[in-house]
Amino acid sequence: MRLLSPFLPVAVSLVLLSCSQSDPMEKRIDELIGQMTLGEKIAMIHAQSKFSAPGVPRLGVPELWTDDGPHGVRPETLWDEWSAAGWTNDSCTVYPALTALAATWDRSLSGLYGRSVGEEARYRRKNVLLGPGVNICRTPLCGRNFEYMGEDPFLAGQMAVPYIQGLQSNNVACCVKHYALNNQEFERSGINVNVDDRTLYEIYLPAFKTAVQEGEAWSIMSSYNRYENEYVSHNPRLLKDILKGEWAWDGAVISDWGAVHDTKGAATGGLDLEFGSHTNGVDVGASNAYDSYYMAAAYKKGIEDGTYSEEELNDKVRRVLRLNFRTQMGGNFGSMCSPEHYADARRIASEGIVLLQNKDGLLPLKGEGGKIVVLGENAIRPMAVGGSSSSLKAQKEVSPLEGIRAAFAGWNVVYERAYQGEPTVTGRYNYGLYDLTDPRSDRQLLSDALAAISDADYVIFVGGLNKNKMQDCEGRDRLDYHLPYGQEAVIEALSAARKDLIFINLSGSPVAMPFADKVGAILQGWYLGSEAGNALADVLSGAVNPSGKLPFTFPKELSDGPVKTERQYPGVQDENGRWQVYYDEGIYVGYRWYDSRDVEPQWPFGYGLSYTSFDYGKASASSKKMGKSLSFKIPVTNCGTVAGAEVVQLYVRDMEASVDRPFKELKAFEKVYLEPGQTKTVTLTIDRDALCFFDAAKHEWVAEPGDFQALIGSSSRDIRAVVDFRL
Ligand code: GLC
Repeated sequence: MRLLSPFLPVAVSLVLLSCSQSDPMEKRIDELIGQMTLGEKIAMIHAQSKFSAPGVPRLGVPELWTDDGPHGVRPETLWDEWSAAGWTNDSCTVYPALTALAATWDRSLSGLYGRSVGEEARYRRKNVLLGPGVNICRTPLCGRNFEYMGEDPFLAGQMAVPYIQGLQSNNVACCVKHYALNNQEFERSGINVNVDDRTLYEIYLPAFKTAVQEGEAWSIMSSYNRYENEYVSHNPRLLKDILKGEWAWDGAVISDWGAVHDTKGAATGGLDLEFGSHTNGVDVGASNAYDSYYMAAAYKKGIEDGTYSEEELNDKVRRVLRLNFRTQMGGNFGSMCSPEHYADARRIASEGIVLLQNKDGLLPLKGEGGKIVVLGENAIRPMAVGGSSSSLKAQKEVSPLEGIRAAFAGWNVVYERAYQGEPTVTGRYNYGLYDLTDPRSDRQLLSDALAAISDADYVIFVGGLNKNKMQDCEGRDRLDYHLPYGQEAVIEALSAARKDLIFINLSGSPVAMPFADKVGAILQGWYLGSEAGNALADVLSGAVNPSGKLPFTFPKELSDGPVKTERQYPGVQDENGRWQVYYDEGIYVGYRWYDSRDVEPQWPFGYGLSYTSFDYGKASASSKKMGKSLSFKIPVTNCGTVAGAEVVQLYVRDMEASVDRPFKELKAFEKVYLEPGQTKTVTLTIDRDALCFFDAAKHEWVAEPGDFQALIGSSSRDIRAVVDFRL
């Protein structure tokens, strides 16, 4: 029987072949490339619609469908449009935003997340889910921090890998984004990022490298911005030399939507699949835009007249076919909005909530059937919709107020708005519309709130940011580090009446909290998705003991941070009018900066409290010297009366480097679950690479012999044990 009959579906051919030859996929791809016409090859490497690229019908290669992510599967759009098609069966489970996932510091939960959202993408017949985002949080003002995994490249990489593997276990490809240096939204479509090599390799590339080498990501998204004055989507240094060269990656580079600007650049710069061209990333393109894509007619002509090599085209086709095959095989059909998926979303959400302050053990709420007053616009505001491309049509979204009412059914739960922000959603598509307009004046809202709280047993203020433009939203950055809509004044007024106010901050970025010492308890509540209200109530009631840790620093003031000049952020225009941004702070991003300048943050990286407390015993090392690897053991005891989880973090300090190095750098962490009174010995292992810095002159990673320290602790500023060792 001809196993390779082109009329057999590709998957069947591959399955039949897999028993007889090694790596049938590569063999099949070679065959197909040999059979494809130039027109079929050219068609395959650029979009045919807003979110899909063609296969090869004649040879049985199916179309390739992508969709956003990363927190759930975006609603279907019309063929050429950004706006939703208005289907009635494409609502999804909304999972917590990736900052919340990072805040769990739990690799197994990240794997659960990837598997779960991958089942939804599979069910919706998507080959590629456009996520996860791993851009480093360089400034708290970046509009898309909420889609990323914090300020530390090691944490971001470690937490991205299981998501990628979970997702791809469904035969749904990830598309790790936005590679690279897309750390702000201001002028994102063309700003040129000026960064030294050491900083590039130590801070901005590692999460992508880990995603590629450990996560085995099947696709990566090239970002809008420029680097070395060349668009990243045409940038041979980033796409060919580093990604496909140094990292030996065999996947497909998919452009961000509208990030391609030139045929030569795209054809020879390392791009494999062009999406969204001729749009500014928001509006629609001309109906025949697909023929005028940069890697369409013009590229075909260039191949025919010998300007471009067919071999280079074949490499693109090979990578796209690999992406196609990897996502067409496998017999699973996924599932959508199942009870299991809601349970997954709720578990990840409640594990990502960070307890920042808890004066006099105010939390969890105690007693039976009293009066709880819930305040704030964010207690009732839907957050799944908004934020632009990650905006989702939730089949279910439990608000904080609804969650509290459900968990405290026997109590009298009263709601007061207290402040009115923007009563409608902006930065969204044509679904999920709502209007929370309240006719009362700000003064009236506050006085009604003050009246309500006077006899309350508990007062919970749910505020923070939202997904509107200039908040946590793609396309724009925030203009102010402080909470919007006059919330600080409202919180001051309320806390004057109730020092035991409980403040829940919903945001995907750090915000100023100058009122922290005036309130009783503070929770960082993120954007938690479909089960947000239930997850928050789980923590408020004590059903879940909070165990989240911050994936980025909350500075007291923006000016405490490393970004001091206009050229550092948002950037300046050069003599040609091109926007230039300079990463002058170099490697001193986040806690690396605050440690080195000994600036006390509001809340440090890696910080988070629990309803119990943990005691760290004496740490020991497997050796005094680093061999291939070095393990540290430390006993951790739950000294309290409730079960809980602790994230034990290990930072490395180079005691005698020839170059300036941060005071400490995260190089290992483990989350340990402990019953009351239980002790477990946590093992943290690092290898030689953990001691390296990047020597830009030699263009290699260097670990200098000498003294090092392992700093083991509960946060980057709560070090419980120090172990000396040598290289
Ligand atoms: C957007 C975003 C990207 C998204 C893509 C498709 O502009 O930058 O993250 O996946 O276009 O919506």
